[in-house]
Amino acid sequence: MHAGPINTFRIGDESKNSAEARRRYAEIFYDVEKLIENQIYLQKHGDPEYGRLKQLIPSIGTFFTKLPLERAFYVQDDKRSISKRRLVSPSFNDVRLILNTAQAMSLSDKRSPVQLVTFDGDVTLYDDGMSLDAGNPVIPQLLSLLKRGIQVGIVTAAGYADKSGDRYAQRLQGLIDAIMTDKDLTDEQRSSLHIMGGEANFLFKLDGFTGKLEWIDPAQWKLPEMETWLEEDINKLLDIAQSVLTAMKNKMALPATVIRKERGVGLVPIAGESMCREELEEVVLNAQKILEQTEVAKNIQFCAFNGGSDVWVDIGDKRLGVLSLQSHLGGIPGERTLHVGDQFASIGANDYKARLAACTVWIASPRETVGIIQELIQYLDESSIFHR
Ligand code: IMP
Ligand code: MG
Repeated sequence: MHAGPINTFRIGDESKNSAEARRRYAEIFYDVEKLIENQIYLQKHGDPEYGRLKQLIPSIGTFFTKLPLERAFYVQDDKRSISKRRLVSPSFNDVRLILNTAQAMSLSDKRSPVQLVTFDGDVTLYDDGMSLDAGNPVIPQLLSLLKRGIQVGIVTAAGYADKSGDRYAQRLQGLIDAIMTDKDLTDEQRSSLHIMGGEANFLFKLDGFTGKLEWIDPAQWKLPEMETWLEEDINKLLDIAQSVLTAMKNKMALPATVIRKERGVGLVPIAGESMCREELEEVVLNAQKILEQTEVAKNIQFCAFNGGSDVWVDIGDKRLGVLSLQSHLGGIPGERTLHVGDQFASIGANDYKARLAACTVWIASPRETVGIIQELIQYLDESSIFHR
């Protein structure tokens, strides 16, 4: 409304209109910022239900930090010409990126800066199904985080039970080599990379002296809520998942095979074939629904998700993966943890659960991951936060 007409006849009208639109948009973001602050205040006092935001959006979750949305809007407006656009109104992507910027800003707050940044693998660090190879522009960003004393985690669904860690090392070789050859990193910083694979099943740490991934016994990091899981129940749940995926594959004649792993079952396309999004979602929703109703699902947590070209049912989820890592690293709280991922649509998306454990940013490509980490580092440096 405030962007003005297409044809401006008087000199100065155009810039006046966009200045007005910019002011009005900023005001709206400021208002939402205040609604979130009010929600946080009520959360702290145990009354989140009374929050205005909660009443407007009953499905709203818990906020870990305040979000400086007005400031973030100005940053993204300069990058994306939001208030200068007339025919294309603020979009889902505009809002997503404003939220990401605001989250990065709040995590660089001097009083409680970020201590742990976790990354999803596929689509976040590298393209779907690819590896983190030398030359990937995200590598210098990860090194920058380590140099500032920030712990880096990769919390991926990709599950390889092999304790040698070779499979993860293969997929992350570019990063491991860069860490091992960087002269500016201290030994401690070099050992600040953890990999949590299979959502919350296999934890490895980079040994900063040998460059090898070191398997960490689950007894050292498993959360109490996971300790009650019986091996028998885990297998029972995977058996049911396997039969659901097989039945769905046969019913829809999908060009795929079912793969059973130690802690997951997948429906994966056969070479040269693919399944459409609708088929993948049909499989996920069916698996979710059927598994939810089983007796064994009362004891074991699982995650059914659409990986973009495949479907997986894993034991555990990224909430547990991030929480385990936080506790293993000495109790890093959610408000000082950031999870970067691409899967946040609520149905069949595996990064979504991480929102229960940490602050999150939702990226759409590895390029955006580079952008948001650059921003985070810029804000951290601006508030002169240099960790040990
Ligand atoms: P993420 O994006 O890093 O969480 O990785 C998800 C992708 O990892 C899936 O789409 C699969 O293609 C792949 N993957 C490999 N092994 C597993 C597994 O055991 N569970 C789930 N996904 C797996
Ligand atoms: Mg992903």
